[in-house]
Amino acid sequence: MKNSILQVIILLIILVFYACRANIKSNTGQVNTNQMVDYQAKGDSVALLAQQTFVKALTKAIADSGTHYAVKFCNLNAQTLIQDLEKANNCKIGRISDKTRQPLNAAKDDIDKKMLTDYALSHQSSQPMDSKVVQDESLFKYYRPITIGMPACLKCHGQVEQDIDAKTRQIIQEKYPKDLATGYQLKDFRGLWKIVFKR
Ligand code: HEC
Repeated sequence: MKNSILQVIILLIILVFYACRANIKSNTGQVNTNQMVDYQAKGDSVALLAQQTFVKALTKAIADSGTHYAVKFCNLNAQTLIQDLEKANNCKIGRISDKTRQPLNAAKDDIDKKMLTDYALSHQSSQPMDSKVVQDESLFKYYRPITIGMPACLKCHGQVEQDIDAKTRQIIQEKYPKDLATGYQLKDFRGLWKIVFKR
């Protein structure tokens, strides 16, 4: 008799345990899907603003003082508007590439590496991938492709002899001795915006 009561109690404990687990799983699953959609929308608007900020600063610097002077304007860290965007959205804005000029912009982990490979491949397909959010423990990582979208990019990322003038080449070499980011053509895949949101 005692034994069968014990068996029933154990059975009940097991049942409650699994019911709770299933519940937690479906709950977090649901919350995460909604959060992914929210972070994708937020990422899209932050990336768009960051892109506009960066292109504006770069174009103005080239027009005002020439390409060699503008070299520092392709560095996001140098831009206070980007820092304001980060503060306002509690995120970290960066760019990664498989051919970096600044070695700090290389893939940081396996997710970054996979994203760079997937997006580079999809860039050649007829339906290139849109932005994407990946959850990595408590972080939401947003990715969006960057292409060589305008001829001005080639002044610093194009064919070394043809597109990049001597003065600019020299400054790039001095500041970035490990530069890999040349030889691009218009519309090439250049890398990814990577925006990390903390929950
Ligand atoms: C005036 C020169 C110049 C122009 C024009 C320029 N870039 Fe850059 N680019 C740089 C420099 C310098 C860096 C390294 C910045 C750093 O230190 O983080 C860089 C870095 C990058 C990176 C980060 C990955 C890496 O290689 O470090 C991307 C992506 C990028 N540029 C895309 C573009 C695109 C797209 C355009 C055109 C809209 C463009 N650049 C125009 C000079 C330039």
